[in-house]
Amino acid sequence: MLWVLNGPNLNRLGTREPDVYGRDTLADLEARWRALADELGVPLRCEQSNHEGALIDWLHEAADAGARGVVLNPGGLTHTSVALRDAIASIGVPVVEVHLSNVHAREAFRHTTLVGAVVVGTISGLGPAGYELALRYLAARAEA
Ligand code: DQA
Repeated sequence: MLWVLNGPNLNRLGTREPDVYGRDTLADLEARWRALADELGVPLRCEQSNHEGALIDWLHEAADAGARGVVLNPGGLTHTSVALRDAIASIGVPVVEVHLSNVHAREAFRHTTLVGAVVVGTISGLGPAGYELALRYLAARAEA
């Protein structure tokens, strides 16, 4: 199973700063991830929370359930959460960090990612395509 985890405020996609994050809603994106997962033949679980602890609990659950990979957009927690970083480091599951926007082209406080050193890779600035590329990568990695 692959997982897609989205953090704080990503439930507001579609109306949240559309110039930065686009007009697709989270439900629109999830429908595309599910179609892609079907095409790739992998089961998929998608979750979103505005709460740090919920994301940490899902990372633990993904590991305990033998997940083959997690696509994670931690939202603002990217830049602040030692606890989320430690959760990723504590599990043996490959995590790909995804950001819709190019965090390096934005405010200085977004240039630091606390999770960046413990994920297998980061995709930032490619919009919704970032999630799809990450899912393709993790599905191929699981098969290899
Ligand atoms: C984001 C970038 C973060 O800096 C921001 O706090 C978000 C979304 C992105 O997808 O571009 O909530 O992770």
